[in-house]
Amino acid sequence: MAEHPLFFSLRSLSLVSILFLVVFPPSLSLTIETQALLDFKNMLKDPLNVLDSWKESESPCEFFGVSCDPVSGNVTEISLANKSLSGEISPSISTLGNLKTIYLPQNLISGKLPPQLNHCSNLRVLNLSWNGMIGNIPDLSGLQNLKVLDLSVNSLSGRFPSWVGNLTGLVYLGLASNHYDEGEIPESIGNLKSLTWLFLARSNLRGQIPESIFELNALQTLDISRNKISGDFPSSISKLKNLTKIELFFNNFTGELPPGIADLSLLREIDISSNQMHGRLPEKMGNLKNLVVFQCYNNNFSGEIPAGFGDMRNLIGFSVYRNNFSGLFPANFGRFSPLDSIDISENQFSGEFPRFLCENRKLRLLLALDNNFSGEFPDSYVDCKSLERLRINKNHLSGKILDGVWALPHATMIDFGDNDFEGEISPMIVFSISLNQLVLKNNRFSGNVPSVLGKLANLERLLLNNNSFSGNLPAEIGALKQLSSLHLEQNSLTGLIPGEISDCFRLVDLNLADNDFSGNIPSTVSLMSSLNSLNLSGNQLTGPIPKNLENLRLSSIDLSRNQLSGNVPSDLLTIGGDEAFVGNGLCIDQYSKTLVKYTLLNVCKEGQGKKRVLGGKLVVFIIMAVALLLVLAGLLLVSCKNFKLGESDVENGLEGEKGVNSKWKLASFHHMDIDPDEICDLEEENLIGSGGTGRVYRLDLKEKGNVVAVKQLWKGNGMKVLAAEMDILGQIRHRNILKLYACLMKGGLNYLVFEYMSNGNLFQALRSENKGGKPELNWYQRYKIALGAAKGISYLHHDCSPPIIHRDIKSCNILLDDDYEPKIADFGVAKIAEKSLEGSEYSSFAGTHGYIAPELAYTLKVTEKSDVYSFGVVLLELVTGKASIEEEYGEGKDIVYWVLTHLGDGENVVKVLDDRVDVETVQDDMIKVLKIGILCAAKLPNLRPTMREVVNMLMDAEPCTAISADIKSDKPGNSFL
Ligand SMILES: *[C@@H]1O[C@H](CO)[C@@H](O)[C@H](O)[C@H]1NC(C)=O
Ligand SMILES: *[C@@H]1O[C@H](CO)[C@@H](O)[C@H](O)[C@H]1NC(C)=O
Ligand SMILES: *[C@@H]1O[C@H](CO)[C@@H](O)[C@H](O)[C@H]1NC(C)=O
Repeated sequence: MAEHPLFFSLRSLSLVSILFLVVFPPSLSLTIETQALLDFKNMLKDPLNVLDSWKESESPCEFFGVSCDPVSGNVTEISLANKSLSGEISPSISTLGNLKTIYLPQNLISGKLPPQLNHCSNLRVLNLSWNGMIGNIPDLSGLQNLKVLDLSVNSLSGRFPSWVGNLTGLVYLGLASNHYDEGEIPESIGNLKSLTWLFLARSNLRGQIPESIFELNALQTLDISRNKISGDFPSSISKLKNLTKIELFFNNFTGELPPGIADLSLLREIDISSNQMHGRLPEKMGNLKNLVVFQCYNNNFSGEIPAGFGDMRNLIGFSVYRNNFSGLFPANFGRFSPLDSIDISENQFSGEFPRFLCENRKLRLLLALDNNFSGEFPDSYVDCKSLERLRINKNHLSGKILDGVWALPHATMIDFGDNDFEGEISPMIVFSISLNQLVLKNNRFSGNVPSVLGKLANLERLLLNNNSFSGNLPAEIGALKQLSSLHLEQNSLTGLIPGEISDCFRLVDLNLADNDFSGNIPSTVSLMSSLNSLNLSGNQLTGPIPKNLENLRLSSIDLSRNQLSGNVPSDLLTIGGDEAFVGNGLCIDQYSKTLVKYTLLNVCKEGQGKKRVLGGKLVVFIIMAVALLLVLAGLLLVSCKNFKLGESDVENGLEGEKGVNSKWKLASFHHMDIDPDEICDLEEENLIGSGGTGRVYRLDLKEKGNVVAVKQLWKGNGMKVLAAEMDILGQIRHRNILKLYACLMKGGLNYLVFEYMSNGNLFQALRSENKGGKPELNWYQRYKIALGAAKGISYLHHDCSPPIIHRDIKSCNILLDDDYEPKIADFGVAKIAEKSLEGSEYSSFAGTHGYIAPELAYTLKVTEKSDVYSFGVVLLELVTGKASIEEEYGEGKDIVYWVLTHLGDGENVVKVLDDRVDVETVQDDMIKVLKIGILCAAKLPNLRPTMREVVNMLMDAEPCTAISADIKSDKPGNSFL
């Protein structure tokens, strides 16, 4: 066949070729097959050109991926796995009547399954798994010779295909991970007596497993995980003697594990995690000598682990965390197995810690936190070089940790916290070069904090608090450039706090409380721009509070119980309250006294405190006072049109009062009658949120049935937030910016009254479902939210003069009204752009983990582009339905990384889209918004678009209006809601 010199084209049949056809009839079938294959090729996109050999001039048997019957020369197989093919499957394939195998898994093929496939009556294998197929699955029960049907991991929808019960020759059946309507497992699957592999995970299945399934005697793999299957765990499962794999995790099974399960002697893997099962594991399970993986985490199992587990030879993974197991752990566990990971956390295991878990030097994950193990940590682990995570916190383990255990070259986390360990940190820890987190808190460790810790360049969290460490804190600590959390409180450290500590420029949380540190607070502390929480209380520190400390964006500070002297900057006082400064020789000035009501701190005497600061502090104070007055004046001016002073006492404006704390100060920015006494009548049951700046309550006003939201600011930083919010929200009006109606102050309490948003915030809305189990937000609504929020931010950046930078854009700060119109909220850390330029040097750290633009790790200059980045993250949340930070992304990774790696892998773009949205109809629109999100989240600020550009791009991505009209009319058959 291959040497046949002629080729034919149906499109240009010449007389000659017709003659040839008549003369050589076998060529006719060849032509038809060639044509069918070329049509098939034409409907595919082939970026890697793997179909280059598919030409009219070639015999189809020479086509790459095509096989023919060696005798008849008929095409029998198309096999093109993982070739990045996209496009659709041509119905022409049905012309290939001799086809036995269609094998196209792991491509990007979309479109519907052609019903004409039924004509390929010789088909044995149909595998289209891991593609982007959409639509209903046509009835393919005509394919009576089918042995393998795998349509898993696509976006197929409609009813679960119950006709598969007619394909009685099936050996492999995979329908998992599609978007079927909720339904039950069809009884008729029990007809498939030859089935060995049944894969129905994530198929929206509820109800019970039909008994007929347990008649499938040949079954080896039973995977119905990630559904809503309920009822007691089926004891008939023990009839399936050939089972090697049971995957029934993430369902609603109740009851106990039937003893018969131990008779399934071929079992290699069992996962029944995250159900509601209880009782003991059948004792005989220990006899399952082929077991490789056992997982039952997140259930209510109790009793002991059968001792037989210790004799297993093949066990690699064992995870039973979050149950009620108790008693001794099988002593030989791991002794004969190539154990790779074990998680027995959150149970009540007691007695000796098992010593053979790493006997075969393969163990990577050892997680045994929160149990009752006691005695010493076995010396057998000194050679466990494979360990990556070692977490045994919250037990009653004691004694010393041997040198070798400190030196685990691959360990990213060592967590011995909350035990009774003693002894020193071995200098050998320098060999744990991968260490990310070292947690030793709440033990009786002693000795020095070794200076070699400074060599662990990846260290992010160092928690040594509540031990007996002594000596100096080594200056080498400053070499830890990744360190974000340093806890050394409740030890006996002495000497000076090394100034080098400020070299840890990522440090967010620094706690040195209750040690014996002496000397001054190093002035370099004021340079730690990431610092958010600072606790130096309970030491012997002397001298003044360093200058400029108030420029840090601290949310908590405690310097109490030292020997500090001089004056407390009023900013710090509002953050920490006076309890953060008591037990020192510190004093406050007259102005600060008005900020804190019943202060224990003395007012600075003439000369006291001020002598050092007269030049600096006094000026700062005057500037602040003037600034406050200017803000107030500004507010009065800006809102003169609709500024309405409440009935209460207002003569004193908004300044602190002098002892008259029974009276309200009220400033309102919109026409609204507000009775201040009503505002203070907040009921806990009406609490709708609690966040970084305060608690938010819903309040039904008596007047005209109006509803408002009232934010009661936390006492500490109340004034600061109040000023920021009033400053900004009081003067701007935009449809997509939350309206601030009024501010009220009484005593030390500050309230902001906002418009009430009945649909909560975007973060919640993205996670909630309506009664039908569909997500609360369909794509049209998500798009509208994206566009509205973009307009709001664009207004801040481009239409306010000077521009306003929000600095904390995130889905929690985008609120939704009755109509899902988004409003940007929470201006507590927002900045007027001009001001931030001069003052930002030390004071710009703000934002939320997962939304913070990467440049803020090394530059302190916040620009509008940092908001653009955060907004990009919000767009990615809208498109993927995922949170900005999720465990699944891996440690220290965020949604931007996740999306980029998925796209970078050449994976189907569709896979990152939120599969709860009915992707089919809006896929292209979602991808447009995904692209905008990626653009906004560009690493380099100048590559990001401006918000004005973002608004324009989003307008181009509007989903087709016909769909939106459908939504509103709520047509039947509209699967969009
Ligand atoms: C090859 O295909 C032709 C046409 O469909 C058919 O007549 C013939 O029987 C087939 N040969 C074999 C071996 O199946
Ligand atoms: C499938 O089998 C059922 C009964 O077992 C029968 O009623 C139905 O017609 C069959 N469907 C097809 C397409 O053969
Ligand atoms: C179970 O597996 C064995 C060994 O592979 C096989 O011989 C036997 O036929 C299988 N049983 C059934 C019912 O298929």
